[in-house]
Amino acid sequence: MQPVTLIANHKLHGSLQSVQDFIRAVEISRKAAPNVQVMLCPPSLYLHVALKAKSADGVTICAQSVSMHAGGAHTGEISAAMLADIGVRHTLVGHSEERARKHLSDDDVLQASLHAVHAGIVPVICIGESADDYASGNTCAALTHQLQTLQSVLATGAPMMLAYEPLWAIGSGKTPKINEIAEAHAHIHAHLKCTKEARDTPIPVLYGGSVKRENISEILAVLGVNGALIGSASLNSNDFTAMLHDAQRRAKGS
Ligand code: PGA
Repeated sequence: MQPVTLIANHKLHGSLQSVQDFIRAVEISRKAAPNVQVMLCPPSLYLHVALKAKSADGVTICAQSVSMHAGGAHTGEISAAMLADIGVRHTLVGHSEERARKHLSDDDVLQASLHAVHAGIVPVICIGESADDYASGNTCAALTHQLQTLQSVLATGAPMMLAYEPLWAIGSGKTPKINEIAEAHAHIHAHLKCTKEARDTPIPVLYGGSVKRENISEILAVLGVNGALIGSASLNSNDFTAMLHDAQRRAKGS
C-alpha cells in the first residue's frame, strides 16, 4: 500500500472560524481515509489555533512559509525556530507565489530549507518549471537545476517532501498532460535516487497546480505521484473531503 499525502494550502483565505471548521470536517471524514496523511497550511496567524483545534492523530498543521534567516531585522518574517517553538513540524518552502513576490533565488530557498531541517521541521520544498521552460521542452532541465541547488539539504538525510508544481499550472486551471506529470515525477525520483545519502524512507514527491475533484483520481494514479498540494479546490471542505476519499482509494490501490 502506497501512502498518499494531501496538502490543503489555504493561502490568504479564511478566518479563525473557518480554520477550525475545516479541521473538524476533515477529521470526521478522515476516519474513512486512514491511509491518507492530510496537511493544512493556514495563514500563519492561525497556525496556533489550528494546532489547538486538531486532534492528536488528525490533520497535520503546516506553515505556508519559513524565513531564510535565523533571526534579525527582517520585518514580517517567521523563523524556523519560532515555528518549532509553537509546535509546527512541517512547512512549505519556496512556493512559487512567495518566490515571485519576494524575488527569492534557488539559494534563498535552500537556506530556508536548511533552517527548517535544523529546527526539526519537515520542509515541503516546491519546485517547478516556468511557462517558458515548459513551452520550450525544458521541464526536466529546469527541475535538474533546482534539485542540484538543493543538494546540500537533500544530502542531510532529514525527513522532507518535494512538491512538483509547474508555475504556469498554479491557480490557472491548466495542468500538464498526464504523461508529462509522469515524466517529471520519474525525473525527480531518478535524481533523488542518485543522491548519495542513504535514507530509511524515500522522499515523497507531490504534484501541485490546479488539482481539483475532476482530475485528482487521474493525477494520483500516476506512478511516482505520492500525493497532491491543493490550493483553491481545498477551500471548500466538501470538495476537499471528496478528494480525500479519492486519495484513500488510490492508497488502497483500487
Ligand atoms: P492551485 O494552487 O491548486 O489553486 O493551483 C496550488 C498551490 O498553490 O500550491
